[in-house]
Amino acid sequence: MSALTEVYRQIASCQDCELAKHRNKVVPGEGPENADLLFIGEAPGWNEDQQGRPFVGAAGGFLDQLLASIGLRREQVYIANVIKCRPPQNRDPLPDEIQACSKWLDHQVEIIQPRVIVTLGRYSLAKYFPGESIGKIHGKPRKQNDIIYYPMYHPAAALHQGSLRKIIQEDMLRIPQILTQWERIPEEVGVRQLELF
Ligand code: URA
Repeated sequence: MSALTEVYRQIASCQDCELAKHRNKVVPGEGPENADLLFIGEAPGWNEDQQGRPFVGAAGGFLDQLLASIGLRREQVYIANVIKCRPPQNRDPLPDEIQACSKWLDHQVEIIQPRVIVTLGRYSLAKYFPGESIGKIHGKPRKQNDIIYYPMYHPAAALHQGSLRKIIQEDMLRIPQILTQWERIPEEVGVRQLELF
């Protein structure tokens, strides 16, 4: 059994928070075990909970379009969420639920060892850029311990707020360059933003 399959098995039986009682299916994430690019959203919605797959609703359709704009299909990247079970009525996850779930994403990152982690939305932003605001740091890569973290608006935000659509499209278009320049991008010093692009 591959290391990721073993993690999926463990997630499927996780009862570490209240969300386990309400879920239809867990949504661990999907993609190649050796993906260079890892996209991390927030939490499953209704469609994801039905199918057990991430980003299969309207936001997922837009994510697919964004990937196509840089010549990628979703099968070529890893797609996950901070929260693996749908909160009832899509309510915000509670701090103890986020805490209980964080180990699964950490295991996935350890196994996949991506070059670039793209945060989509506020929970993955809060995990990797605590205390920072998306309006200020979206589209600015930051390298730490050989991983480049790249904050983007959530695709669903662009669906609700048309003005964000162009911003998210432009931020996406910078990803190929970040991937090809991965080795040359220096590790950050403190919280200094990289302004290389
Ligand atoms: N939004 C997310 O953050 N994740 C999903 O899987 C679907 C919608």
